[in-house]
Amino acid sequence: MLMDTRRNPFTPRRGAEPPVLAGRDEALASALTACGRLLQGRSGRPVLLIGDRGMGKTALLRAIAREASMYGFVVSSIDCPKDESERDLAALLAPKIRAAATWLLLSDGFGSAEADEFLSALCRFEATYGVGEGDSFDRFEPDEDPFDVVITGSLEVDLPELFEALGYAFHAAGRGWFIALDDLQLLNAEDLAALLAAVHRVGQLELPVMFVATGLPQILRMTGDAKSYAERLFRFCKLGPLDLEAVRRAIVEPLEAFTVSGTTVTEEALELLARETRGYPFFLQMWASAAWKAWCERTAGGGPEAVREANTLTAADFEATRAEALRTLDRDFYAEALDGATAAEMALLEVMAEKTAESGSETCSAADVATLLGKTEGELSRQVTRMTKKGLIYRRVPGVLAFSAPLAGASILWQKTGR
Ligand SMILES: Nc1ncnc2c1ncn2[C@@H]1O[C@H](COP(=O)(O)OP(=O)(O)O)[C@@H](O)[C@H]1O
Ligand SMILES: [Mg+2]
Repeated sequence: MLMDTRRNPFTPRRGAEPPVLAGRDEALASALTACGRLLQGRSGRPVLLIGDRGMGKTALLRAIAREASMYGFVVSSIDCPKDESERDLAALLAPKIRAAATWLLLSDGFGSAEADEFLSALCRFEATYGVGEGDSFDRFEPDEDPFDVVITGSLEVDLPELFEALGYAFHAAGRGWFIALDDLQLLNAEDLAALLAAVHRVGQLELPVMFVATGLPQILRMTGDAKSYAERLFRFCKLGPLDLEAVRRAIVEPLEAFTVSGTTVTEEALELLARETRGYPFFLQMWASAAWKAWCERTAGGGPEAVREANTLTAADFEATRAEALRTLDRDFYAEALDGATAAEMALLEVMAEKTAESGSETCSAADVATLLGKTEGELSRQVTRMTKKGLIYRRVPGVLAFSAPLAGASILWQKTGR
């Protein structure tokens, strides 16, 4: 049997690029338009991809970065570490900038005065912040001449200077620099302010530096608090669930491409999948992957005739794997999304789960939750702020709470009773 489970085309893993990035054509195209403009010396707005957990932010970020590298951008990717002690922006950025600089040094056309200025600034930046290698590049001694860029030791001053020097050097080389930053909401307020200032600077100068970051919904407010100009600086791209057409693409195209005989799926099965997963990409990949395995087993061992007959993935294949898909979802997605919640926080999550189940909505009122927990609104508000920082929940609008992971309420209730 050729269609064994190793050929499973679905990708139920965080950050995994799906076989078909469905429903994100517009978002992809507009980020790439900005990239193209920047390389032509025009303005191109940096992008913030915003969405709940599992909505496909990282997958889209990776796809944009890959395309940008084909446009001639040197790509630096940074994943904000979950561990707070490792979350130092200067330390995260310096080695990436050095790698980008080295790449350009090795390529042609990097012998400009602008390049020397940039390399000098980078060496002094590394030395001042005690990050990266701090030593000279092969053909370049940082202390030869006095240079314009002054490194002060204050990141909010120095990072814009470093980005500017880099931008001019890349411009002189006819290339662009692309920074892909995943989970921006994990940065602390000072680092975030410094980063926004740096992105703002290169934007004003129309230098070929493209910045694309992802964040949970609270990132909107965080960037606004950090810099009043954030709202004008970024193009905010909100990622929502996939509609039926996108679900169809996400399922049908990988099946056709990965199977010998163009396996397809019934319309009834697609509708079931879209309805029950509500179009959430993680859930979709998880369930499609489980259904694929079941379908492989069902059709295994048959002769050519049997294979042809059993060629279609049906709603029954999905129904048969519903429980398994939900269990894996609890284990691989929700357990991680709810990781780090204290007992008191878990109590709040459970109240939210009950409230949202009652109303059939994905949000609930903060006042109701406060009443049920016997807390004052002030106490609840402080707890919500702490839990937002942890990425567990957020305020969708003032006074209204939502889970950071879609449909988390159902998982929380099931964990109490067993799926
Ligand atoms: N546009 C899409 N179409 C189909 N599947 C997708 C899409 N975007 C993401 N996925 C899948 O959804 C899951 C979650 O994606 P991920 O990028 O990790 O989400 P996030 O970063 O928002 O938490 C992964 O399994 C990924 O392969
Ligand atoms: Mg992600």
